[in-house]
Amino acid sequence: MTAIAATSGAALADGEVNVYSYRQPELIQPLVDAFTKETGITANVLFLDKGLVERISAEGANSPADVILTVDIGRLVEAKDGGVTQPLENEIINKDIPAQYRDPAGEWFGLTTRGRVVYASKERVPETAITYEELADPKWKGRICMRDGQHSYNIGLFASMVAHHGAEYTEKWLTGLKNNLARKPDGNDRSQAKAIMAGECDISLGNTYYVGLMMTNEKDPEEKEWAAATKILFPNAADRGTHVNISGMALAKHAPNKDNAVKFMEFLSSGKAQEIYAEQVFEYPVLPGAKVSDVVASFGEIKPDTLPLVDIAANRKTASELVDKVGLNDGPTN
Ligand SMILES: [Fe+2]
Repeated sequence: MTAIAATSGAALADGEVNVYSYRQPELIQPLVDAFTKETGITANVLFLDKGLVERISAEGANSPADVILTVDIGRLVEAKDGGVTQPLENEIINKDIPAQYRDPAGEWFGLTTRGRVVYASKERVPETAITYEELADPKWKGRICMRDGQHSYNIGLFASMVAHHGAEYTEKWLTGLKNNLARKPDGNDRSQAKAIMAGECDISLGNTYYVGLMMTNEKDPEEKEWAAATKILFPNAADRGTHVNISGMALAKHAPNKDNAVKFMEFLSSGKAQEIYAEQVFEYPVLPGAKVSDVVASFGEIKPDTLPLVDIAANRKTASELVDKVGLNDGPTN
């Protein structure tokens, strides 16, 4: 993997594809290597931790970007709405990726899913099942921790509540959730598991892959203890299923190496690539039947909510407004 020089698209050699990625280079590397091995095409990865849409936008028609890789439906839609993607109608990709996980116009495609689950104290939560709806039940009063209500992971979940139940219900539900908080929303998903271990709360919302990251964290072994203190409950496993968000890809608007970009995207949608990717990031492949890693398998079975991601995207704004309206980030008030 080499860095992309600030050259115009026309100056780039054949046999290359330029990937602009919000995902860490080390997570992408195994995929890129497998792609190059199979096709002989070199994939140059430019990692950006912010401003990807602005960058491609500013580069304009000379942008070297061919493929965009990112996480979260919010960011995929942001790329589409920001005008830096183009539609792709491709039989192979559309066959591999279920319609639920891609844009109907072909401007973005999901590759892996991550469940927004409940982390629960092994010690203090005997329950083996839970629903999102029940997080507003007074039985959890003073027992829930969570990160910023406006974080895209929470907005995705809350948007799914709006899609399922409407705005009025979701407002009441968010008020109930707020009243059940142990403290003001703070930290990231992993720090909620830490808070559970410390006894500050009993349950929290978190993405599935962080549990895998904590379980295998050799650099910071303390995180293994956070994971060991908690168990995963898959909300709504008995009815409509657990909310999932996606990581995904899009064809860049001006893709100078479009043929190679499409080859790369076809490769990424294949079961083989999805399994490599899912293993790296502790996520679930979107392709039905593709294998999850042993670590992810140890979480138990996930039954994903069948709501199309495009419906979640359509309700993100309402969800965000409701978070402010109920003052979720102010924490518990009564
Ligand atoms: Fe994350």
